[in-house]
Amino acid sequence: MRNTIRFLVNDEPRELRSIDTNLTVLQYLRSVEKYCGTKEGCAEGDCGACTVVLGELRQGKMVYRAINACIYFVPMLDGKQLITVEGLASNEGQLHPVQKSMVECHGSQCGYCTPGFVMSMFAYYKQNTEADRTSLENALVGNLCRCTGYRPILDAGKQMFSEPGCGRFDDRHEHRIVQKLKEIQAEESLHLEHSDQQFFAPTKLEELLELKNRFPEAHLLAGGTDLGLLVTKLNRRLPVLISLEKVSELHTLSVLDSEVILGAGVTYAEAESVLKQEFFGFYEVLLRLGSVQIRNLGTIGGNLANASPIGDSAPALIALGAEVSILSMRGERKLPLQDFFLDYRKTALQPDEILTRIHIPRQVQETDSFFRVYKISKRFDQDISTLCGAFYLRKVKGRVEEIRIAFGGMAATPKRALQTEKFLRGVEWSEKTVELAMELLREEFTPLSDFRGSAQYRKVVSANLLHKFFLETSSSESRVGVLHHA
Ligand SMILES: Cc1cc2nc3c(=O)[nH]c(=O)nc-3n(C[C@H](O)[C@H](O)[C@H](O)COP(=O)(O)OP(=O)(O)OC[C@H]3O[C@@H](n4cnc5c(N)ncnc54)[C@H](O)[C@@H]3O)c2cc1C
Ligand code: FES
Ligand code: FES
Repeated sequence: MRNTIRFLVNDEPRELRSIDTNLTVLQYLRSVEKYCGTKEGCAEGDCGACTVVLGELRQGKMVYRAINACIYFVPMLDGKQLITVEGLASNEGQLHPVQKSMVECHGSQCGYCTPGFVMSMFAYYKQNTEADRTSLENALVGNLCRCTGYRPILDAGKQMFSEPGCGRFDDRHEHRIVQKLKEIQAEESLHLEHSDQQFFAPTKLEELLELKNRFPEAHLLAGGTDLGLLVTKLNRRLPVLISLEKVSELHTLSVLDSEVILGAGVTYAEAESVLKQEFFGFYEVLLRLGSVQIRNLGTIGGNLANASPIGDSAPALIALGAEVSILSMRGERKLPLQDFFLDYRKTALQPDEILTRIHIPRQVQETDSFFRVYKISKRFDQDISTLCGAFYLRKVKGRVEEIRIAFGGMAATPKRALQTEKFLRGVEWSEKTVELAMELLREEFTPLSDFRGSAQYRKVVSANLLHKFFLETSSSESRVGVLHHA
């Protein structure tokens, strides 16, 4: 096993053997590298001041992803290029087009947020040839500025594509980086030790299972967008971390005749196009999950295993009838996702088990089957749900043949509205029956009151979401009742 990580900081190679395995890249940059361009605002992935870009070799090509350095642990840099704001200008000091356009469009005032914006825009610049307003705004959802105002920043985002390059990140430069990255790729598994800490990055599934069997208390590390906060916000130490990143079986994505299978380590960004194609309602809600930086790292497996009652994947996947595969050295088992959540933050996973795959039945393309997900949060973007409702309906001749209604934020776990479903099954999908179902639904859950919303608010909104679903899925004749009631 290797006991050293190798990565690039901008163009320069680094090799680390003994390093605090809970150290974040932000702390490393500022305290070890003395690169202080990258700023700390919130230390929880929300403000974007710490945004850096990862350059990675995938199938021989460079791929660039903006991430939050404040919740990314240093050992995760192994084999990658870490690009910081210091690495954009040429050696002669010529600004990168992103920087130049920010200066010319007056995109900065106090400057605290600016390096983060520049890095998010740099990732966008590498992935596009021109800016359109919507995709640029989406790319910057994870960056907050409290003094400049966003208009000049968006102007800069448009203008950067017409600025001449500075030599950095052109084909010749990129070719040199590719060579350097090739030199530091390693097939071998990784094991770092530092005082009482251990960090493992196995490359084989069997090895991963053995490690989880040997260290049942270890934290499995996928994207780290939940785990990182345990360290930066709750001051916890995570002595044994087992990274899932190098186990290829967890990163596969297959579209079969009857189901879509997502490896538990597939990130939101990687799943985006398949979800858009197959389960549009799920895709729509994922576009509002965190920010680009979060979706570049966060995994659906991590979201489910984290078992937050307000996680956004679970309601959609439960309504779609998804199942999960769970693996340990003792063997494999499969269970419906709704049975995976046992209690508040408690899942069916045993200490030696790993969530490996999520199976989502493909939707029959029938005119009378519908799937919608509604996320209710205080802000539209980059906010956690107050509640999230997901609805799947199949009608036959105007009657409910199949229905699944799942909510996050209404109970200690993501949960189906089984009584409401039972009432609706077999009845006419009409205003009258839906109104009765709404009454039932208002009483089916006993939600909590918290700073996101009161219990009463949650009850009213959950029932209203059912109504919204009805309005979006019913014919005009069955909606006549709506007019009569008005
Ligand atoms: C700024 C910010 C915004 C966010 N916004 C949202 C949001 O809008 N909606 C939302 O739902 N979430 C949100 N999150 C939470 C988080 O991004 C998601 O829950 C994400 O999917 C977690 O995935 P991960 O890969 O980062 O998990 P990690 O942090 O790596 O792991 C999370 C937990 O799951 C366990 N785990 C991971 N993979 C496996 C596996 N294969 N088998 C068993 N256990 C496993 C880990 O041990 C850990 O306990 C946000 C987080 C941040 C920081
Ligand atoms: S410091 Fe705010 S997102 Fe990292
Ligand atoms: S320039 Fe001051 S916070 Fe953005």
